[in-house]
Amino acid sequence: MAIALDMLGLEAEVHRLKKALNAVILAHYYQESDVQDVADFVGDSLALAQEAAKTSADTIVFCGVHFMAESADVLGRDGQQVLLPDLNAGCSMADMAEISQVEACWEALERVGLATDTIPLTYMNSTAAIKAFCGERGGLVCTSSNAKGAFDWGFSRNPKLLFLPDQHLGRNTGFARGIPLDEMVVWDPYQLQGGLTAERLRKAKVILWKGHCSVHQRFLPEHVEKVRASYPGIQVIVHPECRWEVCQKADAIGSTERIIEVIEKAPEGSSFAVGTEIHLVNRLSKRFASLGKRVMTLDDAGCLCTTMYRISPQHLAWALENLVEGRVVNRIKVEDDVKQWARVALDRMLEIKV
Ligand code: 13P
Ligand code: SF4
Repeated sequence: MAIALDMLGLEAEVHRLKKALNAVILAHYYQESDVQDVADFVGDSLALAQEAAKTSADTIVFCGVHFMAESADVLGRDGQQVLLPDLNAGCSMADMAEISQVEACWEALERVGLATDTIPLTYMNSTAAIKAFCGERGGLVCTSSNAKGAFDWGFSRNPKLLFLPDQHLGRNTGFARGIPLDEMVVWDPYQLQGGLTAERLRKAKVILWKGHCSVHQRFLPEHVEKVRASYPGIQVIVHPECRWEVCQKADAIGSTERIIEVIEKAPEGSSFAVGTEIHLVNRLSKRFASLGKRVMTLDDAGCLCTTMYRISPQHLAWALENLVEGRVVNRIKVEDDVKQWARVALDRMLEIKV
């Protein structure tokens, strides 16, 4: 059994099983190193979706969180199956928008006569049902890598956007595009009409859903001030899921892929304080130390994505072992009617140039 093997044995077992099963292992950058070491492909959520759309493997084992595995199922070909090694690997941000709440929001926009002027745009970190909702209403999906392009796509079709579910990514992207803060309102799904008057909704260019990432929202402007005072010359780079106030103080903002790229391209002797998930930061810190670059977390209390962390090499081997014995465990399967429109929304995203 996988559980009794040491790490080296486990790695060999996973390689043997995935070959026998024609399976591919996709892992997000936030995964533990042991998981990344056995993966065929490691990337940010956009790169993983692109990879899922083109792999010919019979089984995709997704080492990430639930919404990513759902998207892989939507983008995969017929007959392919997607497994998530631990079903508890969810995303608290994705849980902040339920399809019934989004439908209620849209009905409210219809009542005040604004729905026809609005493009619904959802961050990848949302359920397949919400992606389908957006696809069916002329909208699309984005990730942190292509949010700017998705805003351009939306605004070239309609004067307003409904952005789900991360208010911070939406605000940061809108602001970078020149939209003033007072033209972006926050829709609270637990308040009547989102807590907004018809007038406020009418004036807004972007309606932001009241959702956030608990990992990234923990970074505060004072962390930027503190690290700059302690390490003169340090560059601060943060993920766009961080608060607007933090992003405004940073030297650069970027998806996980972009963060890595900025550090890779920096000259020897550079120092970075990074505002994103701690596993990624620790790995970058180790990787770049030998190249004379210093990488540290923006906040030394460290932010761990506990749900990403649930995937372990043991869970991975367990899922593959079951499959070899003819038992499909932890399959993520999106219903066909949802899949159809979610695919439309994801395909629109994949066509956007980053
Ligand atoms: P990326 O789009 O950078 O992969 O981020 C996904 C995510 O969930 C970050 O919290
Ligand atoms: Fe979700 Fe935040 Fe974890 Fe990303 S880091 S998967 S947004 S909880």
